[in-house]
Amino acid sequence: MPAFYIFFQQPLTETMTQNPVRIAPSILSADFSNLGAEIRAIDAAGADYIHIDVMDGHFVPNITIGPMITKAIRQHSAKVFDVHLMIAPADGYLEGFAKAGADIITVHPEAGPHIHKSLQTIRALGKKAGIALNPGTPVEVLDHVMDLVDLILVMTVNPGFGGQAFIPLEDKISAVRQRIAATGRAIDLEVDGGINPQTAKAVIAAGANVLVAGTGVFGDGPEHYARNIAALRGGR
Ligand code: DX5
Ligand code: ZN
Repeated sequence: MPAFYIFFQQPLTETMTQNPVRIAPSILSADFSNLGAEIRAIDAAGADYIHIDVMDGHFVPNITIGPMITKAIRQHSAKVFDVHLMIAPADGYLEGFAKAGADIITVHPEAGPHIHKSLQTIRALGKKAGIALNPGTPVEVLDHVMDLVDLILVMTVNPGFGGQAFIPLEDKISAVRQRIAATGRAIDLEVDGGINPQTAKAVIAAGANVLVAGTGVFGDGPEHYARNIAALRGGR
């Protein structure tokens, strides 16, 4: 075999093995009366990202966490803070979450008024930009913003609450993975909603590389966090 074949084949194999599934526990299911300890516990249990679900009682019915709490918990973990904004409009809060310690900020196109501008703003703040697709949002919403995104979040529940049943959208996840592959960039494909070891396996097979899980991680107490996170990873 000519030497250059070996040269080109090796990095490809390495790229595939260096792209493990990452787990992003959603603190929506944590004990809010003990949030600092909960963050430290999932950090120690092997979480890759800390997923922070921000809800405003307007874009979604629930109200949760703002920049102040995000800033307060920042001191409890050095892991990636993955902030999922379910607020409308989001633009006025992007800087606040950036300053509070967000690493990735994800917005929904329906939050308006201009998704392209919101993604530009997140990037200009020096943060990674994410776009979230609700179950009913078509993948075509990605058409003119792929160069502005570092993460694409496919929702497998309608946003607003933890503990909902998984909506099987594997075809959509695969379609997004194909779009990412076409860019040649390492854009994260995150799936959020109803993730347990069974559904994890299905979405990983469809192309997801970051899994959000609330009840799937926090469901049965801190002594099980490491086991729960490992079980989600085991899907691959
Ligand atoms: C739903 C949130 C999810 C939620 C996931 O609006 O975006 O992150 O916390 O919770 P589970 O894993 O319980 O479905
Ligand atoms: Zn979320």
